[in-house]
Amino acid sequence: MVEIGRFSFHNLRRSLQAFFSTPSTLFLVLWVVGFGTVFLWQSSSVDGLRFFRRVLPVMAAPRLRPVSYNITDFGGVGDGVTLNTRAFERAVAAIARRGRRGGGQLNIPPGVWLTAPFNLTSHMTLFLAEGAEIRGIEDERYWPLMPPLPSYGFGREHKGPRYGSLIHGQNLKDLVITGHNGTINGQGQAWWTKFRKRLLNNTRGPLVQIMWSKDIVISNITLRDSPFWTLHPFDCKNITVTNVTILAPVTGAPNTDGIDPDSCEDVVIENCYICTGDDGIAIKSGWDQYGIAYGRPSTNILIRNLTVRSVMSAGVSVGSEMSGGVSNVTVENLNVWESRRGIRIKTAPGRGGYICNISYHNVTLDNVRVGIMLKTEYNEHPDEDFDPKVVPLIENITFSGIHGQGVRVPVRILGSGDIPVKGVSFRDMAVGITYKKKHIFQCSYVQGRVIGSIFPAPCENLDLYDEQGQLVKRSVSHNSTDIDYDI
Ligand SMILES: *[C@@H]1O[C@H](CO)[C@@H](O)[C@H](O)[C@H]1NC(C)=O
Ligand SMILES: *[C@@H]1O[C@H](CO)[C@@H](O)[C@H](O)[C@H]1NC(C)=O
Ligand SMILES: *[C@@H]1O[C@H](CO)[C@@H](O)[C@H](O)[C@H]1NC(C)=O
Ligand SMILES: *[C@@H]1O[C@H](CO)[C@@H](O)[C@H](O)[C@H]1NC(C)=O
Ligand SMILES: *[C@@H]1O[C@H](CO)[C@@H](O)[C@H](O)[C@H]1NC(C)=O
Ligand SMILES: *[C@@H]1O[C@H](CO)[C@@H](O)[C@H](O)[C@H]1NC(C)=O
Ligand SMILES: *[C@@H]1O[C@H](CO)[C@@H](O)[C@H](O)[C@H]1NC(C)=O
Ligand SMILES: *[C@@H]1O[C@H](CO)[C@@H](O)[C@H](O)[C@H]1NC(C)=O
Ligand SMILES: *[C@@H]1O[C@H](CO)[C@@H](O)[C@H](O)[C@H]1NC(C)=O
Ligand SMILES: *[C@@H]1O[C@H](CO)[C@@H](O)[C@H](O)[C@H]1NC(C)=O
Ligand SMILES: *[C@@H]1O[C@H](CO)[C@@H](O)[C@H](O)[C@H]1NC(C)=O
Ligand SMILES: *[C@@H]1O[C@H](CO)[C@@H](O)[C@H](O)[C@H]1NC(C)=O
Repeated sequence: MVEIGRFSFHNLRRSLQAFFSTPSTLFLVLWVVGFGTVFLWQSSSVDGLRFFRRVLPVMAAPRLRPVSYNITDFGGVGDGVTLNTRAFERAVAAIARRGRRGGGQLNIPPGVWLTAPFNLTSHMTLFLAEGAEIRGIEDERYWPLMPPLPSYGFGREHKGPRYGSLIHGQNLKDLVITGHNGTINGQGQAWWTKFRKRLLNNTRGPLVQIMWSKDIVISNITLRDSPFWTLHPFDCKNITVTNVTILAPVTGAPNTDGIDPDSCEDVVIENCYICTGDDGIAIKSGWDQYGIAYGRPSTNILIRNLTVRSVMSAGVSVGSEMSGGVSNVTVENLNVWESRRGIRIKTAPGRGGYICNISYHNVTLDNVRVGIMLKTEYNEHPDEDFDPKVVPLIENITFSGIHGQGVRVPVRILGSGDIPVKGVSFRDMAVGITYKKKHIFQCSYVQGRVIGSIFPAPCENLDLYDEQGQLVKRSVSHNSTDIDYDI
């Protein structure tokens, strides 16, 4: 037995047993322990999160650039109250000076780092630790106005300038925004409320907007509650977005699209979870005459392994602003759940441009109202100067491995005499339905084919082929119309 001074553990246990055997002393001890716990809990919950952070070890940020800074080196205070705009500006300026020597990394430690909008620089890595949150200030007077996007002609909601994004970048190359799942929070609630009450005179700003830039990686972070579109790469090349969580309330958060690649090429979006108040993803390329004049398409886009929920709009969309053209898009391993629509293509007379060579493989639709939706009369225009005779071309849209359950209208493809939909193809589709079996594969002005058997049975507009690709029956009614918005 181990001896401690004159006592042994054996003796100690015996005296403790004797002490606790009296009911009144036991009660006293329990009371002291209980009161002490409440006291400790109260004093720590004054700053509960900090208390836990002190206990949990913070994973060290990996060194991803030759030099790395800490936002605290520039006077940043992560208390959720101090405004850190100057600290971010100083940090970005320090990294900009390191540009030719491999750039720099800015670490954001755990805490809430309140800030007004700021600009990023080239050769920069912004690294958000676990428990770090960059939080946008709500007061719109801190948000600078910027000129409208050239391909939109004016702010999306109001004429004239628009609010810039919380985190902004222009003419950059080699930019990384990553972390151990830290958060960029736009505090959109205040903006959504003002938007609904018509208190804003300018278009709301995105959360993160990168323009005229290339070689961009956005990974391992969470983006939440954007005032407007969440992540908006505009006229960029070579962007990878991976392992990103994007969140906003599914209702009451207007226009909070997840990711909007806009006039971008060479884009990969993968392994993301997106649940927002508008489209999960919306591929765009400018609006009517402004987009046609700007003339920059979105092309070579790969979207895979995504889980998306969109109660107000759709999982993955193309359009409706697509006047610079959208082509060569592959969407695969997509799961859309509890949503209004799964896949959507939207355009209108006046857009011009094209939507072609778009393919969707291995899509699961879980309780969505309309599975696949194509609409050619999305008549929202910047002004009255669009030319309705300038129509988009829609060609070569391929669907394979489309599965799901609880879908009301699996397919609704609404082409028109002016905008017929050409070259659609369906293969390996089995979607469980919730409605009567007639008019649930709806078509109008659609030409294309079905290979093998699919469920539900296709509209009469499509040619039928067997599994070996031999023509079984050619349709004689590409232009017939069976669209029923009531179901
Ligand atoms: C940043 O600085 C703070 C305060 O000096 C420190 O507690 C924290 O560990 C640092 N974090 C990183 C990621 O360097
Ligand atoms: C970011 O840079 C752009 C282009 O120079 C400028 O228009 C904008 O006001 C800047 N934003 C902020 C927050 O400084
Ligand atoms: C995704 O991000 C989380 C949180 O940052 C990280 O733990 C995980 O390893 C990442 N997964 C991949 C495949 O990078
Ligand atoms: C990242 O954080 C978000 C929001 O807190 C959470 O929903 C998500 O599951 C986290 N991702 C990972 C990979 O841990
Ligand atoms: C919008 O404009 C009106 C009238 O000019 C003005 O009273 C109001 O303060 C403006 N609101 C904002 C948020 O700028
Ligand atoms: C794309 O960007 C990544 C990240 O900066 C870079 O490693 C890669 O070389 C770029 N690809 C091309 C083709 O430039
Ligand atoms: C994401 O995080 C994981 C785990 O920390 C890391 O292995 C991976 O390299 C990160 N991915 C990117 C693209 O930053
Ligand atoms: C798919 O993405 C999720 C994150 O949403 C990730 O956890 C999972 O590892 C990814 N799967 C593959 C096969 O990359
Ligand atoms: C289509 O896009 C993929 C990337 O998603 C790219 O690898 C391929 O080269 C592109 N095809 C053409 C014809 O540009
Ligand atoms: C289809 O996508 C799901 C995710 O939605 C994925 O789990 C599954 O592995 C994919 N199947 C194939 C054959 O790639
Ligand atoms: C559509 O696909 C067909 C067959 O692959 C091809 O000949 C045609 O050029 C494609 N259309 C467009 C607009 O790319
Ligand atoms: C179907 O509509 C297209 C485009 O509007 C037209 O070119 C074609 O002649 C029509 N076909 C029939 C059989 O009416």
